[in-house]
Amino acid sequence: MYGPLIEGKLVRLRPPKPDDAAAMITWFEDMEVTRFLLRNHPPSLEEEKEWLEKMARDPDQVIWAVEHKGALVGTTAIHAISWKNGFGTTGTVIGDKAVWGQGLGRELMQLRARYAFTQLPLRKLKSGYLAGNDASARAQAAAGYREVGRYQKDMFIDGEWRDHVMTEVLREDWLKSNSL
Ligand SMILES: CC(C)(COP(=O)(O)OP(=O)(O)OC[C@H]1O[C@@H](n2cnc3c(N)ncnc32)[C@H](O)[C@@H]1OP(=O)(O)O)[C@@H](O)C(=O)NCCC(=O)NCCS
Repeated sequence: MYGPLIEGKLVRLRPPKPDDAAAMITWFEDMEVTRFLLRNHPPSLEEEKEWLEKMARDPDQVIWAVEHKGALVGTTAIHAISWKNGFGTTGTVIGDKAVWGQGLGRELMQLRARYAFTQLPLRKLKSGYLAGNDASARAQAAAGYREVGRYQKDMFIDGEWRDHVMTEVLREDWLKSNSL
């Protein structure tokens, strides 16, 4: 399913639209953007449109388009939600490199955690990052995620094997530093 509108100071999370697909595929053409992602190859326009339609129908995923100053800059999601166990796995791509390092990732992860813990009955968000992705590590930490383990030398990036760091944030810990 698509996520509802959430307004932040820097970002606006909104439901994706079919027309977003054309911009989205360009992000995956850029190896700087995909460097620390599990997907490293660009989808076709048709595949991307199908993916957006599939996401809209899937009750176990919540996906948003990310806007900054009215322009589409990325996507973020809570994937593979287990309603029985109350967790989901989050992911983000800010595909527009021009807006990296301005606090968008940090803010959207905070907004997404607030949504997960106040609008959905989730008790935990899981995530992760590949060693060296300092922006992701710090943005996640700012939203309350902490490291819970790592797969050693798990992914091949720029000629080196990098650890895959697993992270999570529990609702009970989130509540200690956030009011409802
Ligand atoms: C990772 C990503 C979501 C981070 O978003 P962002 O808007 O660039 O990050 P922010 O500006 O919110 O910065 C978050 C933190 O990282 C720091 N940071 C940002 N860019 C950094 C960099 N290149 N190196 C080190 N630290 C960096 C910021 O100072 C900030 O730290 P602070 O909270 O301690 O002040 C975004 O860069 C992105 O989508 N990259 C490509 C895809 C990707 O890697 N996705 C994540 C997969 S796990």
